[in-house]
Amino acid sequence: MSHTPPAATITLALSKGRIFDEIMPLLAAAGIEVLEDPEKSRKLILPTNRPEVRVVLVRASDVPTYVQYGGADMGVCGKDTLIEHSAEWGGAARSGLYLPLDLQIAKCRVSVAVRTDFDYAQAVKKGSRLKVATKYTAIAREFFASKGVHVDLIKLYGSMELAPLTGMADAIVDLVSTGNTLKANHLMEVERIMDISSHLVVNQAALKLKMAPLRRIIDAFAATVAANTSAALP
Ligand code: PRP
Repeated sequence: MSHTPPAATITLALSKGRIFDEIMPLLAAAGIEVLEDPEKSRKLILPTNRPEVRVVLVRASDVPTYVQYGGADMGVCGKDTLIEHSAEWGGAARSGLYLPLDLQIAKCRVSVAVRTDFDYAQAVKKGSRLKVATKYTAIAREFFASKGVHVDLIKLYGSMELAPLTGMADAIVDLVSTGNTLKANHLMEVERIMDISSHLVVNQAALKLKMAPLRRIIDAFAATVAANTSAALP
């Protein structure tokens, strides 16, 4: 059986976990319901109640790549992922990505964290070189350069909390949400670099070829985001 979709199919790239859970109400408001639970199914292509719309499950950091190369028409990923992807490609536009909407979901922050017994303020003040482990090298490089702090960046792909605990690094740059992971590993947040939320990312060529159906989804998401934002105002 071929998995190549008919030309009119809309493919949406999502990652499992928080983004998947938090995009469901926006999809529902756009009249789209995913018919299988990714936590229970091993399938990577999930059908929806709309025969022309399907979801592909990819790693969060692969979402921009799938959209860029047309493996998906649109996707949802964090601002952190977009910044790192853009840095590789010299900007979102150059990678053929269109970013129409901040979905205001999966909110967290990118922060610097160190061991609770590490004197970060002193280390930064002294102008010594800081060893920083992170998955977010573009964000970390730009942040420390703007502060005039010299850093040696160590690229990791996960479990960054271990780097200061094993003595491999002085600090990490990582996502923080509740702060529980840091606390559980005797680390503390010392600087907040930026707030993060998930964005809609769209393949520019697909937007031209499938303008009407993609626009309908983008507009439905935008209406829900606007309604949620105004409901949250005091
Ligand atoms: C992120 C991050 C931390 C954790 C922070 O990992 O890397 O480990 O969440 O959340 P908290 O402040 O609520 O404890 P994520 O679960 O996204 O997976 P990852 O390790 O694959 O990045």
